[in-house]
Amino acid sequence: METVTVGLAERSYQISIGQGIMGTLGHACRELHLGSRVVVVTNPTVGGLYFEVVRRSLADAGFNVQLIEIPDGEEYKSLETLKGIYDLLIAGRLDRGSFLVALGGGVVGDIAGFAAATYLRGIPFVQVPTTLLAQVDSSVGGKTGINHPLGKNLIGAFYQPRLVMIDLDTLDTLPEREFLSGLAEVVKYGIVLNKDFFNFLAAHADEIRTREKHCLAKVVKSCCSIKADVVARDERETELRAVLNYGHTIGHAVETLTDYKQFSHGEAVAIGMVQAAKISEVMGYAGSTDTERIMALLETLHLPVELPQFSLEAYLDALARDKKVKEGGLSFVFNKRIGDFTIGKVKDIAALLATCGIRG
Ligand SMILES: NC(=O)c1ccc[n+]([C@@H]2O[C@H](COP(=O)([O-])OP(=O)(O)OC[C@H]3O[C@@H](n4cnc5c(N)ncnc54)[C@H](O)[C@@H]3O)[C@@H](O)[C@H]2O)c1
Repeated sequence: METVTVGLAERSYQISIGQGIMGTLGHACRELHLGSRVVVVTNPTVGGLYFEVVRRSLADAGFNVQLIEIPDGEEYKSLETLKGIYDLLIAGRLDRGSFLVALGGGVVGDIAGFAAATYLRGIPFVQVPTTLLAQVDSSVGGKTGINHPLGKNLIGAFYQPRLVMIDLDTLDTLPEREFLSGLAEVVKYGIVLNKDFFNFLAAHADEIRTREKHCLAKVVKSCCSIKADVVARDERETELRAVLNYGHTIGHAVETLTDYKQFSHGEAVAIGMVQAAKISEVMGYAGSTDTERIMALLETLHLPVELPQFSLEAYLDALARDKKVKEGGLSFVFNKRIGDFTIGKVKDIAALLATCGIRG
C-alpha cells in the first residue's frame, strides 16, 4: 500500500492507495479513533459490487454499520437526495460520535461529504472512491456539495475527509467510458503541473488505456500527490487551485451546448484542453509541438479533441454563464509549454473563440 499525505495542519489526512485494500478499511478507521457507528453512503451499482466487503471490514473492526443507498446518477446530486440522507441519519439517531463513509464515484463522494459537513454541524467522513475520476480528483481536497436546478455544484462546503482509501481493483468493474473520462483529468495534471508525469503518460498511454495495474498505481499516486500539493497550498481556491480548471472553461461550454448528453464530463474536458492548448500557443505561452503532443496523447487515450460546431453567439452565451467570468473578464488557465501554467483574464472572448475556429 502506498500513501500520500494531504498536509493541512490539524486537518491533514492520508490517501491510501493499493490493490485489494478495501478490506483494511475497518482497521484504518479504528486507527483514526472514529466513533463506533458508521453509515455507508453508496448507490445500488457500487453497493452491489463493494458494500459487502466494506461492511464486513467495518463490522470486523467493531463498528456498528448502517447503509444509505441513493439513486445512481448526476441528477440525484440534489437537495432532495440530501434531505433523504438527513432524514435517515436523524431517524437512525446518528450522533456526533458517528461518521460517514462515501463509497462510490464523485456523485456519492460530493453529496455524502456535504451531508457529513452539515449534519450536526459536521461529523467525520471517509472517502472510498471507486471511479478513476473520484480517485484522482474529487475524493481529494475537500470540495463537497450538490447541484441546484440553476447550476452544478452551486451549494457546498470545503470539508476535508479524515481518510481516502483507494482500492485500484475497483477500476476493474468501471465501464469503459467512465474510465476514459477519468483519464482526461489525469492528463490535465501533466499538462499544467508536471512535465515528467506528462512524459510518463505519453510513454505508457496504451498500457494505461488498457488498465495495466502497474501503470495505474503510478498514475493514481502521481495525481493524488500533485493534487495534494495544490490543495495544501491553496485549499480554498483563492489562486493556485484554479489551475485545476484547465480545459474546463470551454469544456463546460461544450457540455452546456450539447445539453450534457453528447459528451461525458471528461470528454468535454479533453476537448476543452485541446482548445486551451491552441489558445496558449497563439498567446505565445507554448509551441505547436506542445499542442500536437497534447492532442496525440488524448487521441491515444480514445478521448475526443474536436470542438463541436455551434455559432459564436451560442458559445459566447454559454461562456458568459461560467462561474469564472468575473469583473475584468473571463479567468482562463493557459499551459506554459507542458508542465507549467499561467492564469490570465480574457476580455475579448470572441477572439479567444476565433482561435478555436469559432467565428461570427
Ligand atoms: N469534489 C470535487 O473536487 C470534484 C471534482 C471533480 C468532479 N466532481 C464531481 O464528481 C461527479 C462525477 O463523478 P464520477 O465521474 O465519479 O461519476 P459518478 O459518481 O456518477 O460515477 C459514474 C458511474 O460509475 C458507476 N460506478 C462507480 N464506481 C464504479 C465501479 N467501481 N464499478 C462500476 N461502476 C461504478 C456509478 O454508479 C455511476 O453510474 C460530478 O458530480 C462532479 O461535479 C467533484
